[in-house]
Amino acid sequence: MPMSKLHVFLSAAEIEALNTQLAARITHDYQDVLKPGEALHVIVTLKGAVFFAADLLRKIDLPVLVDFVRVSSYGNATQSSGVVKVIHDVETTPIGKHVLILDEIVDSGLTLSVLLDRLNALQPASLKICALLSKPSRRQTPVEIHYLGTEVEDKFLVGYGLDHGERYRNLKEISVLDSSP
Ligand code: IMP
Ligand code: MG
Repeated sequence: MPMSKLHVFLSAAEIEALNTQLAARITHDYQDVLKPGEALHVIVTLKGAVFFAADLLRKIDLPVLVDFVRVSSYGNATQSSGVVKVIHDVETTPIGKHVLILDEIVDSGLTLSVLLDRLNALQPASLKICALLSKPSRRQTPVEIHYLGTEVEDKFLVGYGLDHGERYRNLKEISVLDSSP
């Protein structure tokens, strides 16, 4: 089996700086939108966004409610199957809530467009997306990302929640996976 090589794309410090900027913008934008005592309704996409969410949410100076959804468009390969399945649904209702979806990377956009349709049908007060990374060249369906860490080229990335065959999620940095021999 060929050895996979990792080339660091974003260091832990660079990721932290992106999270700090995103959290400041989110805190600023929602502090006047939320009523006293109202929480920002955060929906985290499992499994990849868990690491991002844990770091970002601790930098957000607002009351938050955290829920999880698992929508899968990937098997164990590096290409999207184009088939999106809801594997674990949210446990709270977003009706009338200010909802922010957290995803670690937007690729084809299929996962988020399915999620947006499902959540919009439940009539939230507002619905926005925050993603650490986006690969615009891979988009198959347009998705508006309201809060974006940074755009990336079409390279397969691992670490900080991103996996390849369920491996590498716990790496502190985000690296390009080069599996060529
Ligand atoms: P989309 O539906 O094609 O936008 O897929 C989004 C999901 O695919 C992301 O939330 C990731 O879980 C996964 N994904 C997309 N690109 C990568 C990558 O470069 N490495 C690992 N997972 C990825
Ligand atoms: Mg994901």
